[in-house]
Amino acid sequence: MRMVSEIPTPVVTIEKDVLERNIRRMADLSRRHGLNLRPHVKTHNVPEIAALQLREGAAGITVATLPEARAMARHGMTDVFIAREITDWADLKELAELSQRADVGVAADSEEGVKRLSQVMADRGAKVSVLLEVDVGGHRCGMSKADEVIALARRVQDAAALAFRGIFTHEGHVYGAADLPAIRAIAAETVHRMRETADALAAQGLRPKVVSVGSSPSVKTATAFDGITEIRPGNYVFNDAMQVANGAAAEADCALKVIATVVSKPEPGRFVLNVGSKLLGSDRGRHVSDTGGYGWVVSPERHVISRLYEEHSVVDSPGTLAVGQRVVLLPTHACIVANLARAVFLVDSQGGVLEHWPNRRFSDG
Ligand SMILES: Cc1ncc(COP(=O)(O)O)c(C=O)c1O
Repeated sequence: MRMVSEIPTPVVTIEKDVLERNIRRMADLSRRHGLNLRPHVKTHNVPEIAALQLREGAAGITVATLPEARAMARHGMTDVFIAREITDWADLKELAELSQRADVGVAADSEEGVKRLSQVMADRGAKVSVLLEVDVGGHRCGMSKADEVIALARRVQDAAALAFRGIFTHEGHVYGAADLPAIRAIAAETVHRMRETADALAAQGLRPKVVSVGSSPSVKTATAFDGITEIRPGNYVFNDAMQVANGAAAEADCALKVIATVVSKPEPGRFVLNVGSKLLGSDRGRHVSDTGGYGWVVSPERHVISRLYEEHSVVDSPGTLAVGQRVVLLPTHACIVANLARAVFLVDSQGGVLEHWPNRRFSDG
């Protein structure tokens, strides 16, 4: 069997047992609470992992972009929610084309967005389901007032080429919460706000079929999901230093690692690795998710990466590591690494290579 030690560094590995355990645990959580699981596959963009998630009971998948949706559809995953608004004419034409081959849901949060969606779908004889985005405090996209949601739901319902499927939110501000109780409070507030919005819609004869929430720390922390029908966690398949920092995962639950090599030790108290922001990204996390740096060296000894360049990581602390030695890194944000890597390697617990998955962003168009 080929060993990961034979592959040039930096190399991105995914440990099979940990990956499968994470997938099973989330599937169990969703079953326990009677929720549909629609994982956000932007975390990995690997159709084989998405297939595993579906095999373990996921009801469909979530993506952020049209290329992600296309890549997954090409691999037979045709129940897709695109959890970002699509408003550009050329993109909308692509969406119409995709909706002929897949059961597509798409986000909307504006009148202009719904008008464009409706026009392009109608022109092309296509139909898509729409989920209206609700802002429960993340202040990215979404409507924060129930009245706005009701008005837009009516627009969707009146458009022949659109079907009103429901509402969704992404409570991504959990990553900026102050501490674990604050994560719990955001999770509870998210459920409460979504239920309130769903009730307001129902009172107007617009009952949403889908009421969808999702971010890994909040779905793991929430104790009740009253009124929620679906969860869309993404990062949980891999976990990373941010999830460990905020308490949503243990280090043993982290499936994705980066193996790098010490290339320089210019003076005592500093060593340098052959990987930088071009693979690791430059996230540090914040507040409860603050990792204290740009990722952690976790083996053979522990260090925080204190400085990052495009192709260098600097550890400003003494260590016993020697030039030429390999180290294992736990990145701050696994989704970024999986997106930037040209390929990831599925490995067993001994470092044996089981599979090699090219990044479909590069190879699948
Ligand atoms: C719309 C949406 N849904 C779900 C998720 C999944 O969140 P997480 O990766 O924290 O599990 C994300 C993450 O960015 C998102 O943007």
